[in-house]
Amino acid sequence: MSATKLTNREHWEAQEQELAKLVEAAVNAGGEKAVERLSKQGKQPVRNLIAKLIDPGTEFFELSTIAGFGMDYPGVPDIPGGGVVYGIGKIHGNWTMILGNDPRVKAGTYFPITLKKHMRAQAIAERCGLNCVYVADSGGAFLPMQAEIFPDDQQFGSMFFNMARMSAMGLKQITLSTGGNTAGGAYIVFMACQSVMIDKMAYSFLGGPPLVKAATGEDISAEDLGGAKIHTQVSGGADHLCKDQEDAVSKVREILSMEPPQSISIHRFEPKEPKQPVTDIYDNLPANVHQGIKTRTILKAIADDSEFLEYKKEYAKGRGDNIITGKIRLKGIPVGVIASNNAGIIFVEAARKATEWIVRCSQEKIPLLFIQASPGYMVGSQSEHMGIGKYGADMVRAVSCAQVPRIQIAIGPDNGAANYGMCGRAYKPHFLFHTMRSRTSVMSGRSAAFVLLSIEERKRAAQGNPLTEEEKIEFQNKMIAKYDGEAHPFYCGARLLSDKVLCFSEMRDWLAMAFEVSLLKPIGDPAFGNLRF
Ligand code: COA
Repeated sequence: MSATKLTNREHWEAQEQELAKLVEAAVNAGGEKAVERLSKQGKQPVRNLIAKLIDPGTEFFELSTIAGFGMDYPGVPDIPGGGVVYGIGKIHGNWTMILGNDPRVKAGTYFPITLKKHMRAQAIAERCGLNCVYVADSGGAFLPMQAEIFPDDQQFGSMFFNMARMSAMGLKQITLSTGGNTAGGAYIVFMACQSVMIDKMAYSFLGGPPLVKAATGEDISAEDLGGAKIHTQVSGGADHLCKDQEDAVSKVREILSMEPPQSISIHRFEPKEPKQPVTDIYDNLPANVHQGIKTRTILKAIADDSEFLEYKKEYAKGRGDNIITGKIRLKGIPVGVIASNNAGIIFVEAARKATEWIVRCSQEKIPLLFIQASPGYMVGSQSEHMGIGKYGADMVRAVSCAQVPRIQIAIGPDNGAANYGMCGRAYKPHFLFHTMRSRTSVMSGRSAAFVLLSIEERKRAAQGNPLTEEEKIEFQNKMIAKYDGEAHPFYCGARLLSDKVLCFSEMRDWLAMAFEVSLLKPIGDPAFGNLRF
């Protein structure tokens, strides 16, 4: 192996170890002490329950695990995992959205990031047509931040708006209550299509005992006010009484056992393993994220049979091939690819080719995979006069209106308008993945530092106090650190600007899962827009 390849591989393996540490911090929030505390209450960590909810031997595809780190909420620096766990797993063979509060993180209360995760889980479920299971155990709103979580759209009330609408669409909303569900949070039990409560463990009430005492003077225990027996035997607010968590998990599986089997809305070919090993990705992606890439090699390591049927391969070489287009199959699912290549700067020819391919795939009803490593569209008079603004806009229009599932994965710079043309978050891809090589920001740290320095220089010169050479360097370094820091996959993952940071070795499995789930609704369903180009 060449020295460069070895350096690349070692670099990415080390980077992914950093990712693993962060994931571990979310999964083991509070450490052994927190697990012991749960155990004394007769509870298991929420991920253990989820592992039992899904079919034996299958995988739970957990999303947004690194949410909530470094949020700097007043007095609470980190919310491990955002205080809630969600992901997609199979229950009786059907893909299901499973969401659970993590009571080890501030009693599972909702911070803004917790809500953002909850909203994202429900948005994926509604768009892809997934039943939802809620493992509810939460102290409700994190009260010191109520103004940022309670009153607005996409805040607390939207959880129940979403449940009501999904239920009306025929998507089952099942709640397994295994702890507190107080005030507004109680609706997670009462709005469910069917709810399961655990005796002497689950409580649900619009006002807890202290509030009742203050409001009415009534002295009552949580159990007598809104325990599992009260709601299953007296109020009728919940539907199934279970003796413990194991019993409750079995009940939820039983409730979902008569769901009709799902199928995908596209012909699936026989899946084949890639001929090229996944280590090719580690070896061939330069450690320097601003260095150009040979994307065909990457595609060969993820595609069935390492086969890439390239479209317009010969067109405008050196300019047109900064985006490569074509088809691959992922575990048998045919997928149209629009992938950054080389330095990734999008020239007019590349924008036109990409637009053409997005339209063709959309008409053929083939889902789209955007592999993003582009720092932007080409600037300068030659490019502007050739119409890069207009052709870039055509690409953005095609991305916005394509009537097929779209998924983005970033493996390099993801800046400026290239973020739009390559289906960034605002373009509502069904799923958006980052890797340790992705850098998502309006521009690179170096470019941002250059722009900001020129503004600062003008300002200081006008004040008659021009920047010294040392001050310029210090200013630039500060800006580079800030903008590169904000582009980092950890910063973006903490804020849900991606759905997951994938290891390169996970790309094939996760992309195949994501396309399968995105294709559960028939292409042409209103979920895809029914727009014309
Ligand atoms: N807002 C802010 N912080 C809260 C909170 C809330 N709604 N609910 C709990 N917390 C905090 C606690 O202060 C504690 O913080 P600390 O670790 O810094 O001491 C932490 O979360 C754990 O809470 P604790 O009460 O020790 O956990 P528990 O497992 O014994 O009890 C509850 C869990 C949910 C039963 C209990 O915390 C509770 O009743 N909370 C209030 C629920 C409520 O009335 N919510 C209404 C808001 S809509």
